[in-house]
Amino acid sequence: MSTTTVCFINQKGGCGKSSSCYHLGGALAERGLNILLVDADPQGSLSQAFFGSAAVESLAARDTLAAVFDQNSILMHPSRLAVATGLDRLSMIRANQSLAPHNRPEPEREGLTQFLLRDVLADVPGYDLILIDCPPNLYLASWNAMLAADHVVIPVPPEDFGAQGLRVVHQAIELAARLNPRLSLLGHLVTRFDGRLAVHRAYEQKLRGLYRETVFEAVVPEASAFKVALACRTPVTAYSPASKAARSMIQVGDELLARISLAGKASIRSVG
Ligand SMILES: Nc1ncnc2c1ncn2[C@@H]1O[C@H](COP(=O)(O)OP(=O)(O)OP(=O)(O)O)[C@@H](O)[C@H]1O
Ligand SMILES: [Mg+2]
Repeated sequence: MSTTTVCFINQKGGCGKSSSCYHLGGALAERGLNILLVDADPQGSLSQAFFGSAAVESLAARDTLAAVFDQNSILMHPSRLAVATGLDRLSMIRANQSLAPHNRPEPEREGLTQFLLRDVLADVPGYDLILIDCPPNLYLASWNAMLAADHVVIPVPPEDFGAQGLRVVHQAIELAARLNPRLSLLGHLVTRFDGRLAVHRAYEQKLRGLYRETVFEAVVPEASAFKVALACRTPVTAYSPASKAARSMIQVGDELLARISLAGKASIRSVG
């Protein structure tokens, strides 16, 4: 069985990277896929969504992704880091602030440290799909994720993406693809979309005009159901299956899987 790895990248904070990993992971596990979520963010938001903040903050570094970057833990068996979430077919590698000292800037100067996550994930068998949640920067954690992944998804809220932000993300993906030729941009995912706002509709159109077919057709709406489900530690498709939020996650999941199988047949998408 082959595993596909997708990382969620954007240096913009609060754009829905962790929320997408959490609810999408839940939606795809519900439809029968074996999913591993990897929290690559020292903030530990994705880990806290499953285990609560107190439990995550008190985790020893050796039980988190930090162990991958710690030379003293180099002998640990990677599959030990993947723990059950309590939801069927959904496991995760957790993170907390112990990852912060390892998340250094200028990752392309790091030598073999750039490939640690790739090597670890190659030793964690049995998953159909690995989703990696990245921090809001392009330092060593995000860089490792891109060198470990087959695909990148860029969550984009319909706000001021015209400025610097996305261009830098695209450049980082193209640089990473030189070291990881498998890597392709699966798409830009419009998140936190409020169709009642003219400004959101205008930005969505602008994004589609600029980046054409690399923008997911499915859109993630701004919806309180996501937050309520998260607070109840349940992905929205399980917490409120009939909600608009749940339906959007199922659509994003369908499109993600379709794009993965198409991307297998296509060369790297140019992001311009
Ligand atoms: N579609 C949505 N509708 C409503 N609330 C949302 C939505 N997406 C995310 N949120 C909320 O917005 C906040 C930020 O989202 P999230 O943590 O997913 O962003 P992030 O990109 O992972 O942030 P960071 O860059 O800090 O890691 C969270 O409280 C989350 O529950
Ligand atoms: Mg996050």
